[in-house]
Amino acid sequence: MEFEQNKSLLPYNTFGIDAKAAYFSEYSSEEELAEILDEYHRTYAHLPLLHIGGGSNLLFLSDFSGLVLHSRILGIHRMEPVDSSEILIRVGAGVVWDDLVSTCISHGWYGLENLSLIPGEVGASAVQNIGAYGSEVKDFIQSVECLSLSTGEKRVFQADECCYAYRSSIFKHGLKGQFAVTHVTYRLSSHFVPCLDYGGLRAALESQGISEDVLTAQQLREVIIGIRKAKLPDPKVLGNAGSFFMNPIVSKEEFQRVKSQCPTLPSYPFNESHVKVPAAWLIEQTGWKGRSLGPAAVHDRQALVLVNLGGATGQDILRLCDEVRSSVFNKFGINLCPEVNFIGG
Ligand code: EPU
Repeated sequence: MEFEQNKSLLPYNTFGIDAKAAYFSEYSSEEELAEILDEYHRTYAHLPLLHIGGGSNLLFLSDFSGLVLHSRILGIHRMEPVDSSEILIRVGAGVVWDDLVSTCISHGWYGLENLSLIPGEVGASAVQNIGAYGSEVKDFIQSVECLSLSTGEKRVFQADECCYAYRSSIFKHGLKGQFAVTHVTYRLSSHFVPCLDYGGLRAALESQGISEDVLTAQQLREVIIGIRKAKLPDPKVLGNAGSFFMNPIVSKEEFQRVKSQCPTLPSYPFNESHVKVPAAWLIEQTGWKGRSLGPAAVHDRQALVLVNLGGATGQDILRLCDEVRSSVFNKFGINLCPEVNFIGG
């Protein structure tokens, strides 16, 4: 088996970083992945292994000296039984996430509408626990099928074994780098129940003259797409990886401390003792919104997004990341954690 060599990763990361992989391989079935892993362990085991998805949450800080794997496992299949209102669909990890959302809505399989237009692929949805507009994918995941990268054996994780939390799962922490997701089974519904509680959604519907009582899933999808397009830069035009930082979760005491200095500080409920604070707001207060550092910039319409103005390296973006983090820390005493995964360095 031959792996591609010295492969440009430019088409495989939405930040538009021109890093190279020493070796690269794609596969379209579990069997092919098992063969690739076999070959890797026989001949290349001294090199690092990296599995990527749509590359929409990655920042390459340097070239990658090992083997990069990418899934092309496709297919969206409804599973038995087909007569209840609960709908189970098994989806290949290489399916583009938004193609899945659009297919589901057109079949009358509901639940994923608020996650419209999130970049990336199905495999990463289960690793990253993608979320937007009041929905998180964990609430729709039934199980995640994986192959062990060390043994090639199959393992199925039920949702409750995946340790899902805000933008987090066992695949990002306890089992990081140990499994490749091959398929995800989602539990959807034949009844459309709109989820409209996220700030701004009802106002957006109202401004478009759409009444909640007659709202369709397709209309909700279009409204969400409109909001995202207005705020978030299109990676085809301006390289970026969506939210660069997570919204920090702070204790209520810490929140009160900062709020006493900045009375307009917004917050969202998280649990009894903690609240979530919008990182974009903190960044905007430091004056970074719309500012650049070399070829990297803080987006002028959403301060949580760092962008590649053209030709930036991963190190350029990292420099901006560090500057923004220290400005926020110096002003508020709050530490921002990147949501994006850094590769190499
Ligand atoms: N805000 C600012 N300045 C800005 C942008 C936002 O002050 O430039 C403040 C406002 O107070 C606003 C609040 O931040 O009300 C929240 O903004 P927004 O609704 O845009 O959401 P976010 O918290 O900044 C999160 C997700 C996004 C997701 C949106 C909508 C994270 C890290 N990010 O952003 O996810 O689309 O909510 O649900 O949780 C992604 O993960 O890549 C992503 C884009």
